[in-house]
Amino acid sequence: MGDHVRIFDTTLRDGEQSPGATLNVEEKLEIALQLERLGVDTIEAGFPITSQGDFDAVSLIADKIKNAGVAGLARGVAADIDRCWDAVKKAESPRIHVFVSSSDIHLAHQMRKSRDEVLDMTRAMVGRAAKYLSDVEFSPMDASRSDPAYLFEMLSIAIEAGARTLNIPDTVGYAYPEEYGNLIRAILANVRDIDKAVISVHCHDDLGLATANSLAAVKAGARQIECTINGIGERAGNTSLEEVVMALRTRRDVFGVDTRIDATQIYRTSRLVSSRTGMVVQPNKAIVGANAFAHMSGIHQDGVLKERTTFEIMDPKDVGLAESAIVLGKLSGRHGFKQRLEELGYHLDTEDLNRAFMRFKQLADQKRDITDRDIEALVSDQMRTDDETFRLDHIQVICGDHAVPTATVRMIAPDGSVVTRSATGTGPVDAAYKAIDGIVGVQVRLNEYVVQAVTAGIDALGEVTVRIQHEGRVYSGQSANTDVVVASARAYVTALNRLRDHSADLGSEYAHAQAATV
Ligand code: KIV
Ligand code: ZN
Repeated sequence: MGDHVRIFDTTLRDGEQSPGATLNVEEKLEIALQLERLGVDTIEAGFPITSQGDFDAVSLIADKIKNAGVAGLARGVAADIDRCWDAVKKAESPRIHVFVSSSDIHLAHQMRKSRDEVLDMTRAMVGRAAKYLSDVEFSPMDASRSDPAYLFEMLSIAIEAGARTLNIPDTVGYAYPEEYGNLIRAILANVRDIDKAVISVHCHDDLGLATANSLAAVKAGARQIECTINGIGERAGNTSLEEVVMALRTRRDVFGVDTRIDATQIYRTSRLVSSRTGMVVQPNKAIVGANAFAHMSGIHQDGVLKERTTFEIMDPKDVGLAESAIVLGKLSGRHGFKQRLEELGYHLDTEDLNRAFMRFKQLADQKRDITDRDIEALVSDQMRTDDETFRLDHIQVICGDHAVPTATVRMIAPDGSVVTRSATGTGPVDAAYKAIDGIVGVQVRLNEYVVQAVTAGIDALGEVTVRIQHEGRVYSGQSANTDVVVASARAYVTALNRLRDHSADLGSEYAHAQAATV
């Protein structure tokens, strides 16, 4: 098997715990298939006991993924473990990931159990999972704030009961690199039969130290990193996959170990996760941010032009950021378009290809050069709008410094009826959103509205991300168009459709709403 660092991707579990990052089953499968192409060792596909939707997503992914392990999360509770097994059992390499808490603060306030009770739970529940399969992972939650002697005992019991991966979570992002590395060394020295297990690390980024802590742990002997694409996750997020992978590869001289990731898939995976979760990647984000390989100062530009390595420690091509020399435009044919799509990793069936080509031609009428980023935005947008329930059919706005901003919106409701509404607002987007609200008939709060240009230039596609809030939950939507009002309206409708899907899971009234009657 060799001494490599295993990558355990938890984008679909811990990543999905980011507010507003809710994904539906199809989106989760799409991301899982891309993670498989990226070459992760294990995909943590969800937490099956938490909802029927999560159970369905984990079992679908378990069924479809052939070249990566598929894990489900379970508390140290019999019903969780049984449900998790049901969800992962079809996988080629299934894994059950069992967790309990180990810190006194969690035992007292969260679990409300004594230390001995939690040790008994560990023995019984890891044992229960091990009866189903041989690949059991165990996590003592809040490990980094636990009494080390108690933690060693708990981990020894977990190995005795059948765990073969021991994950050491820095659940609240409290550890710092030297301390966390020393904890891993102490575990290697004090846990009984530790050579039977792989040590894994799971860091949160509350102090911005998740990547540094994970790397310190690898130096100390850990051989699995739990991470997410773009570092999304609970609160400040998890260790970012692209950062640890590229740090291990770029500084192999220091770490001496590598992962099995196909780094050329990193950029595409990052874009896909950002687009499906609505979690915008900050421009200065390491590896995948828009500015990660952009050089502004004259001295830097001059240096890079003379010799790339003067100011670049990684080649952008290595992370899949090569911009094609072929720029498509108005005169490009179907064949060239299809070829470019395939080079970018999109394999569409004939019907989808025809629709994408039609949209490409419309875009080429408005924009002279069509880049890879434009094509990605266009295909992503098409995939998003395919499974909408409320559909935006037409939008027209009147605005200007002497006009009352007014929008007229025509939509197709889930029952097929066509509804038109007009509304005025503080600006064209506000007016459009009010008209859409009038049709869909649900009250939401707009938490965030972001417009970004996909590429440079006055004719660039505008990509809009919105986050809406309803009954304490956040839903996101994204869309790209050369007209930002159209993109804004579509993004809003996508978010409302997500809310509607989720309400259907909860059986709420909104799920049965068609269109508000005029
Ligand atoms: O952060 C954490 O402790 C977790 C565990 C469930 C592994 O996500
Ligand atoms: Zn976590």
